[in-house]
Amino acid sequence: MKNLDWGSLSFGYMKTDYNVRCYYRDGKWGEIEVCSDEYLNLHMAATCLHYGQEAFEGLKAYRCPDGKVRVFRVDENAKRLQSTCRGILMPEVSTELFTEMVKKVVRLNQEWIPTYESGATLYIRPLLIGTSAQVGVHPSKEYCFLIFVTPVGPYFKGGFSSNPYVIVRDYDRSAPLGTGKYKVGGNYAASLFANNLAHEKGYACEFYLDAKEKKYIDECGAANFFGIKNNTYITPESTSILPSITNKSLMQVAEDLGMKVERRPIPEEELETFEEAGACGTAAVISPISYIDDLDTGKRYSFGDKPGPQSKKLFDTLRGIQYGELEDKHGWTTVVID
Ligand code: PLP
Ligand code: COI
Repeated sequence: MKNLDWGSLSFGYMKTDYNVRCYYRDGKWGEIEVCSDEYLNLHMAATCLHYGQEAFEGLKAYRCPDGKVRVFRVDENAKRLQSTCRGILMPEVSTELFTEMVKKVVRLNQEWIPTYESGATLYIRPLLIGTSAQVGVHPSKEYCFLIFVTPVGPYFKGGFSSNPYVIVRDYDRSAPLGTGKYKVGGNYAASLFANNLAHEKGYACEFYLDAKEKKYIDECGAANFFGIKNNTYITPESTSILPSITNKSLMQVAEDLGMKVERRPIPEEELETFEEAGACGTAAVISPISYIDDLDTGKRYSFGDKPGPQSKKLFDTLRGIQYGELEDKHGWTTVVID
């Protein structure tokens, strides 16, 4: 294992030894190639550069206390990528190819998987791009699917600690019938301005309402939202948010822990009634929310300076499963290194 101060890592890019690539040409996927180059040789008229024909995914590999390395719900990331491919007319990557490439890239870079004790993980970033030249707005004929990995620490400063969020009414990241439910780069380009604004004002992250009515909660930056009240886990139903695999898992974990679960539109005013609230995602894990400010109305929705007991229980259970410390009764983890 590399001799690094894993515990001091933030969520950033670091060069590792290898990435894996597969090319789609003449209507089919080729062989998996192992590469140590961090760069791509790309046509200047490639559709990914001009028309945003690109998709990405994000999952993690965990070095577990039993000495094994596990990845979490890799099949769900493959399925979501397939849905994105259908959404922006790219050829689907099969679950088998996706999983094989994930396993390969983790094994090839095993020296870069942080220690269990550090709390850091190996972030896995699959990327699919249209590579052939088009000047008219048409899908590419050729594609490159690649996966790189990089060791990461917490997405938000302080890891599992509470942070403030701010509602942004003047910016949308996605439209109700747009690409919000797909993991395409354009959604993130659309979020950069609002995210920067939130940081400038001293908040951890921007908080989106639905683009059409500005009435219901959508999501928080690059994470889904959940609220908790009366032993119930409540999370938004919306066509413009990313279907988070962490959130899907937390809904199941909440149910397993004896909580009720509701997935439905959440009007902004309901924030007032939540005992606890948080953001959830692969990068964010569970990031409890201390308060959400609505600067247009002057309203502050507060959930406490420290993570609440139910968020803590959800966090501990999810982490326990991911690290192989708790029974994986739903079969969510895959051992990549035994
Ligand atoms: N929402 C957005 C916009 C995201 O970028 C992410 C991160 O992937 C999530 C939610 C959380 O999804 P997941 O739990 O699958 O990582
Ligand atoms: C993730 O949680 O995997 C994300 O993609 C969030 C962000 C780094 C884009």
